[in-house]
Formats: sequence, C-alpha cells, structure tokens
Amino acid sequence: SYNQAGGSDSMTPRAPRRKILCIFGTRPEAVKLAPVVRALRGSPSFSVQVCVTAQHRRMLDQVLEAFAIRPDFDLDLMRPAQSLSGLTAAVLRALDPVLARVRPDWALVQGDTTTTLTAALAAFYHKVPVAHVEAGLRTGDLGRPWPEELNRRLVGTIASLHFAPTPGARDALRREGVPAGRIFVTGNTVVDALGLATARLAASPSLRERMDRRLGFLDPGRRLILVTGHRQENFGAGFAGVCDALARIARRPDVQVVYPVHLNPKVRDDVRRRLLGTPNLTLIDPLDYLSFVHLMTRATLILTDSGGIQEEAPALGKPVLVLRALTERPEAVRAGCARLVGVDPRRIVRETERLLDEPARLRAMARRRLPFGDGRAAQRIVSILARA
Ligand code: UD1
Repeated sequence: SYNQAGGSDSMTPRAPRRKILCIFGTRPEAVKLAPVVRALRGSPSFSVQVCVTAQHRRMLDQVLEAFAIRPDFDLDLMRPAQSLSGLTAAVLRALDPVLARVRPDWALVQGDTTTTLTAALAAFYHKVPVAHVEAGLRTGDLGRPWPEELNRRLVGTIASLHFAPTPGARDALRREGVPAGRIFVTGNTVVDALGLATARLAASPSLRERMDRRLGFLDPGRRLILVTGHRQENFGAGFAGVCDALARIARRPDVQVVYPVHLNPKVRDDVRRRLLGTPNLTLIDPLDYLSFVHLMTRATLILTDSGGIQEEAPALGKPVLVLRALTERPEAVRAGCARLVGVDPRRIVRETERLLDEPARLRAMARRRLPFGDGRAAQRIVSILARA
C-alpha cells in the first residue's frame, strides 16, 4: 500500500528516492510526458527511468530527440499493419521483465493510447501503482474517439493518482466515483511542452532561420491553413469528406493548405490518393516538434482532428476548426478558440470561408487563451508525486 498524497514521511531529506517508471509509446504521449520527465529528473526526490514501447518509431524518435530524452528501455514494438490486439499483447508481454527488474514505486502513463492502457494494466499485474497524466477526458461515446475513449476509461479505473488537466476532467472522474483526494487538477503538460519549444525558438534566431529554411515551401503571400488528420474513427468516409473540403479550400488564391501527413499507412495511402497533386495544397512528412510548433505560429487557421493541437492552438492564439463531431476538450470551444465542424465537406468549407472572409470573426477566435493550463503542470505533478 502507498501513502495518501499529502503524507509526510517521504518529505524528510533522507527519504530514499522514489523510483518512477515513465512508460510511453506514441508521439503525443512523448510530447506531453517530456516536461514531466524533465521535472522529475530535476528533483532530488526521484530516480527516473523511461521505457518506450515505440508503438510509433519515427514520430516518437523525433520527440525524444527534440527533448533530449534517452530511454532506459526501448521495446521497439512497432510493426507494419499491427492489429490493436497484437500490439496490446506485445506490450503486455514486453513490459513484464521491465517491471520485474525496475520494481518502480510508481508507473507513470499519459493519455489514452494502446500503450497507455496496456502499460497501466501491466503495472497493475505487478502491483505497481499507476499515476495517470491527462486523466478524466471523456466524450461519453465509446465509439468516438475509438478506441481511445475506452482506453482512458479503463486507465481511470486502474490508476490510483489522477492528474486532471482541467476542472471539467476532474468532474468527469468524480462522476465515475474516483475519490476526490486521488484527483489533482494540474493543467495539461502540453502547455509546458509548448512553452519549452517556443522559448527555444524565441531564444535562437539561427534556429528560427533553420526552421524557415525547412519550411521553404511556404508562400509568405498567402494565408497558411494548417491541417492534420489521423483519427481512426474518421478513416474511410470521414477522410473522404475532409479531403474533398481541403481540395475545395485550396482553390482560393489567397490561401496555401499544408498537411503534414501521419505515418499510419491507412492515413497516408488514403490522403495521398485523394490529394496528391492538388494545386496549392502541400502534403509533407511529419515534422519534428520544434518545426511543427514553428509552423503553427505561421498559420492563419488550423483544421485538425488531433487532441494535442486543440490544446496547443489556443495558447498560440490560433483558431481551430475541429474535424470531429464530438470533443473531449470542450474547454477550447467554450473559450471561443475552437469550433466543432465535423467531417461534412460543405460544413468545413463554409466555416473556413467565413473565418477567411470575416476579419472580425477571425480576430475574435485568434486571441491567445489558456483553457488547458498555465505551463506549470509538470512541476505540480512532481510535487504531488513527492508527497504521494
Ligand atoms: C495512435 C494512437 C492514437 C494517437 C495517435 C497519435 C492508439 C490506439 N492510437 O494512433 O490515440 O492519437 O497514435 O499519433 O494507440 N506507423 C508507422 N510509423 C510511425 C507510427 C505509426 O509506420 O511512426 C504505422 C504503424 O506501423 C501502425 C500504424 O501506423 O501499423 C498505426 O499506428 P498506431 O500506433 O496503431 O495507431 P495511430 O493511428 O498512430
């Protein structure tokens, strides 16, 4: 058994260091745990080890490199066209010896991917308590996002410490019966990650120049519409609608549409088949985190189905049209920085044009706001873990 948060014996200077095992596998988990790993490493209370499943390979490595994180364990589990069950089984099996060897005091997981769920489950089997970063996000619909809504609900059941990014997320956990004393509202660590990235860009003109060279295809005379899309529940008809809308938007002479395409072959093949060669629309490979942040700062408008970008864009003052029918991040919509537009091409085009053609409307959405945190979430998480 372990102490309630707020327990005091671990606070004495001689207390042995807590062993924390951070387990993650995809690009977004890496971005959002990087500030936590950094803050944990900066604290004398912890000994920190990092285990990556590498559910993603290249996109994960881009983040590890950006934040200078060298994993202690790399399970290297990405396989082409791997099924969810196959990946789940592989992660469970591969984590067994790691957990047996490290015997951590806490397993730290983030978000709602297959890695998140499976790492929490493996830790549970090893009687290692789980702390969940970005706990309590819910749409209420198990089919959307699929399979993430189930993943996060199950992790909510397994975890014994819940770091909720917002009061809304805390309330969702409370409604599911999680004891109040186990939930801490910390803000989302993505705001911390974004802060680290923008500070680095701001501090280095030569870095910015390098980024600009990498983004040399951008036309400064046109307004940039940045697009990302990869959600499984949008595969097929959803993507068809989005791509149709993008092709129509790209006909405007005053815009340039840029779409860094996720490496999932189902996304890639589909998007390329529908959009490759469309004038005024550029498909590019996934960017490293700093380049992507730089690209966001150059955008007039962002169209996305990604969760993290819905959180980053408001902090950068960039309006977002969310290519989904539901979101587990209503805070951005409520704050007036995001609108849910779904995947119907007519609606996407209409909402995009309204923003492009009505400067007041665009300005109202383009105000910098911080509905997801103040950039100090990682520090809060570390002090709570130190008392747990
Ligand atoms: C996963 C997460 C999703 C998250 C997204 C962020 C699950 C179920 N889904 O979706 O929640 O929003 O990551 O990116 O955990 N692949 C590559 N190269 C890569 C990454 C993936 O080739 O760098 C291929 C893999 O071989 C795999 C396929 O893409 O077969 C799908 O990857 P997977 O991690 O299962 O799902 P994502 O769609 O990336």
